Amino acid sequence: MANNEDLLKKIIAHAKEYGFVFQSSEIYDGLSAVYDYAQNGSELKKNIRDYWWKAMVQMHENIVGIDSAIFMHPTVWKASGHVDAFNDPMIDNKDSKKRYRADVLVEDHIAKIESKINKEVAKAAKRFGESFDEKQFKETNPRVLANIKKIEDIKNRLYPAMDANDMESIKTLIEDIGIVCPISGSKNWTEVRQFNLMFSTQMGSTAEGASEIFLRPETAQGIFVNYLNVQKTGRMKIPFGIAQTGKAFRNEIVARQFIFRMREFEQMEMQFFVRPGEEMKWYEYWKDQRMKWHQSLGIPAGKFRFHDHDKLAHYANAAADIEFEFPMGFKELEGIHSRTDFDLAAHEKYSGKKLRYHDPELNQSYVPYVVETSIGLDRMFLAILSNAYTEETFEDGNSRVVMKIPPVLAPYKVAIFPLTKKDGLPEKAREIMNDLKHDHMCFYEEKDAIGKRYRRHDAIGTPYCVTIDHQTLEDNTVTIRERDSMNQERIAIESISGVVNERLKNI
Ligand code: GAP
Repeated sequence: MANNEDLLKKIIAHAKEYGFVFQSSEIYDGLSAVYDYAQNGSELKKNIRDYWWKAMVQMHENIVGIDSAIFMHPTVWKASGHVDAFNDPMIDNKDSKKRYRADVLVEDHIAKIESKINKEVAKAAKRFGESFDEKQFKETNPRVLANIKKIEDIKNRLYPAMDANDMESIKTLIEDIGIVCPISGSKNWTEVRQFNLMFSTQMGSTAEGASEIFLRPETAQGIFVNYLNVQKTGRMKIPFGIAQTGKAFRNEIVARQFIFRMREFEQMEMQFFVRPGEEMKWYEYWKDQRMKWHQSLGIPAGKFRFHDHDKLAHYANAAADIEFEFPMGFKELEGIHSRTDFDLAAHEKYSGKKLRYHDPELNQSYVPYVVETSIGLDRMFLAILSNAYTEETFEDGNSRVVMKIPPVLAPYKVAIFPLTKKDGLPEKAREIMNDLKHDHMCFYEEKDAIGKRYRRHDAIGTPYCVTIDHQTLEDNTVTIRERDSMNQERIAIESISGVVNERLKNI
């Protein structure tokens, strides 16, 4: 298998060649950090969205879904804290003219020190073999201890400076630890400045009458401002949740790594409204549930891990990420946040409307606390592609690229191939296709040799290929080939749907 950087490049190339993801406005040389989902990509994306919706809404009687507008009253973003606090600190290198997120520069520096520690540990593990005690080694090895101390010192300066919006101290930290620009290699930095990530536009037709509004940077606020309407019209009782999926927009300073960090992306969020004081119980519950959801897709458990936040967002009293091992390392895939009553209390204050829930069991009114689960659909898409991409070489020297996408998410479930274009085989194949397409996304193909057709469907992750041959005309049986094992079986036409359904049930 290729090294990690190569792997990401291969996935990007594969995603383009096989109709998953295209650069937006490609004929105009593209638009930075904006992507379009193509014919296979949009199916995969829809299937991920549906899989999430099913787990969150269909399977929970106390969770309902909404679809709120992207545009919202501008005061929403004042109340939510996004106007004042949704900033990233940015810094430019005067020689390369490259712009960076100042905190990311420091975090990348920390990651380099961490990798030195890991190398030291790996070396010692090899030297000592089975008797190696990693904990003891880390607590006693002078070089490791010195590096751990370095990291602590940096964090103790970075996070308080971030919390206090102290840009000067961040600049001094960057200078003190000697960070150089990865492009120019110089330490010739500008001051650190705050940069608000929200996109704004004008609503209204005349310059005087127009007001500035924002493209939502998260879907969550659409849930908060509708919470009481949903609670009342749905007769919801606490604890209950509201879910939604939809576009969000952020003017990211550095957008990179394909669809991992985009300026226009999609979120799948759920706000769970609970009694004040019970939020930590639900926070743990949702951390567990969401990890189980990821693992239900058959992706190895070792590809996921929790990362508890050192620095909390302006609205949270506890927060953890579910990280996934992308080709570029473990990175945030989903966030679980205990948001307290921050948002609802702020909307009460700014709107002047009561947003209290009357709890019939306690006979009390209160502003509910909220536990949120928030996952980027595009990041989940990249996680699925990264895990699925497999290069295989066979004993006879042939090779294939197969996308081992969980069948439930695959763009097409069945490909239908007449063996040849004559003798009535296409007609029979069409008959089967016309029947099966009511239940499954099917793809009909008669061009090229059967082996080539298999390879094309391996490359887009189709779990089953069905071949119609001369025997089919005699006894109504077909050959069905399974993508991962490449095993072929002869089955009756009436059994195709059952075989496919069985596989979809078991992921
Ligand atoms: N409502 C909470 C919230 O928005 P967040 O951690 O800022 O929290 C949640 O975002 C998720 O949205 C992230 O875990 C990530 O999967 C996704 N996400 C955030 N920014 C993104 C971007 N620029 N491009 C793609 N996905 C992004």
